[in-house]
Amino acid sequence: MMSRRIAVIGSNMVDLVTYVDRMPDAGETLSAPRFAMGPGGKGANQAVAAAKLGSDVLMVTCIGDDLFGRNTLSNFEGLGIDARHVRVVRGLSSGVAPIFVEPNGENRILIVKGANDALGPEDVEAAADDLRGCGLILLQLEVPLRTIYAAIAFARANRVPVLLNPAPATPELALDRIAGVSFFAPNQTELAILTGLPTRTPDEAEHAARGLLAHGIGAVIVTLGADGALLVEPDGTERIAPVAVRAVDTTGAGDAFIGAFAHHYVGGHDKLQALHHAARYAADAVTRPGTQSSFATASEFAEFCDRLANSELPP
Ligand code: RIB
Repeated sequence: MMSRRIAVIGSNMVDLVTYVDRMPDAGETLSAPRFAMGPGGKGANQAVAAAKLGSDVLMVTCIGDDLFGRNTLSNFEGLGIDARHVRVVRGLSSGVAPIFVEPNGENRILIVKGANDALGPEDVEAAADDLRGCGLILLQLEVPLRTIYAAIAFARANRVPVLLNPAPATPELALDRIAGVSFFAPNQTELAILTGLPTRTPDEAEHAARGLLAHGIGAVIVTLGADGALLVEPDGTERIAPVAVRAVDTTGAGDAFIGAFAHHYVGGHDKLQALHHAARYAADAVTRPGTQSSFATASEFAEFCDRLANSELPP
């Protein structure tokens, strides 16, 4: 039987979120209504989403020797995430992400990777005994590509399934070095950057995703925002319907989706069912402000699903 343990080899950041009425023009100073700070980073967010839903999660990441790093560590520990492979890097700051959220919930994010840039293949090696016992490894692109390639090679050699979320996308990602990943999960924009193909419509996105299967990828999951998501596999494509909600803050929605997919997938659900749960979990997260603070626990998520089933949510 597949292990239910999930490993995340990835980033952590402290999100510095400014809620704006509008973005300032060049040379303009503008007052903004609200600021909030909280834990973020794509890797950590995905780990936290899965842990809040009840998964057993192992985190492999690097923090700076500073207050932000100590907060990140205690956040993991407080959520029951196995943080034995969180390495403190002297002389580098922890990762930080200044984020701007507009009234429609859309965000713009800058990342200062700091210690995340020090996460190396040696960290994968140091966690090898623990990683071998995992049912799924989650990877993103906020850490060096050589670490991603090392993690994929390790997982392939040890037959541990991998989900690679190529975010933020870079054309430097060598597709011939990611062969063997079970899931490749870009959003529409990332898919366009990685393939050089148009992805504006679900049909275009499906076409671009299908081309990626030739690189030895098991399945491509494309998140399409208001159009839902796609599961593209060699023998066909499934569409995951969008879940309509009133968005307040979309920061971390993609991470909520991946973390929830991982939780449900290792829990024995099939891919499609896990994706439907993931779409609902991400929809719920955008109805609240903040990144990890917007992610529901298992019981909060169950309540949201009940309200959805009873049509109590706004169209
Ligand atoms: O995906 C959202 C995340 O991207 C934020 O938490 C921010 O830290 C950046 O990593």
